[in-house]
Amino acid sequence: MPSSNPIAVFDSGYGGLTVLKELRAKLPQYDFIYLGDNARAPYGTRSFDTVYRYTLEAVKWFFKKDCPLVVLACNTASAKALRSIQQKDLPKIDPSKRVLGVIRPTTELIGKFTKTNQVGILATNGTVQSGSYLVEIEKFYPKVHVVQQACPMWVPLIENKEHLSPGADYFVKEYTDALLRQNAQIDTILLACTHYPLLKEKIAQFLPTGINVISQAEIVADSLSDYLQRHPEMEERCSKQGHTRFYTTDSTEDFDDKAAIFYGSQVSSQHAELQED
Ligand code: DGL
Repeated sequence: MPSSNPIAVFDSGYGGLTVLKELRAKLPQYDFIYLGDNARAPYGTRSFDTVYRYTLEAVKWFFKKDCPLVVLACNTASAKALRSIQQKDLPKIDPSKRVLGVIRPTTELIGKFTKTNQVGILATNGTVQSGSYLVEIEKFYPKVHVVQQACPMWVPLIENKEHLSPGADYFVKEYTDALLRQNAQIDTILLACTHYPLLKEKIAQFLPTGINVISQAEIVADSLSDYLQRHPEMEERCSKQGHTRFYTTDSTEDFDDKAAIFYGSQVSSQHAELQED
């Protein structure tokens, strides 16, 4: 049997499936393995240390599964854990492997969408508090002015399948209004949480016309495709049988039930136990 060295895709729970869906569409020849840490989600309300520890455990789990490349398809994990893992842990664990996030590819491009140079970020509490988007956008587009709004009710609404209900309108309007109160000149809003694309149409209903609402998944898929082209030594290590496996740290029944909302088709997951050192 040919060896399996899948590309790893990690999220605190279901949201990363929106990214995996685009990765699969863009890079159908590769093998992927998805892990949702549903038992410990949400990450958005957790401390730096906790998100870092949980994410590192997931990365080590993927390495044991022979993944040469891990994509943290979670903004909160990318904001709070990626840098430490890249700089501190990877050199010790296995310098030949790579861990990538979703913030860099998005911030590299965001300035191209705005004409007013006024950008709004909608994200979890954790991502907003990390300030990662402010720092990264400043690096690539110093003239772009960024305001942020945390939307703590959106992930629970989506995970409880209430995001399309009339009840969700209240919280969508609440946070979009709060963002626009900070800056009425915004012409581009980034959905900086992997769950939020499921609310994209509803969000657009509560915004003045002419505001661009950007989801990350396609940007991340384009960026990974580009990365693999620029790094043939890594590209060669990734196995290519077009397989996808799904793991969750919680109930596989619950995962399979909800995953389809995010992934667009039915999945069959297996259980994973993450271990502390
Ligand atoms: N997937 C996370 C993100 O993109 C949000 C969900 C959570 O809070 O765990 O930030």
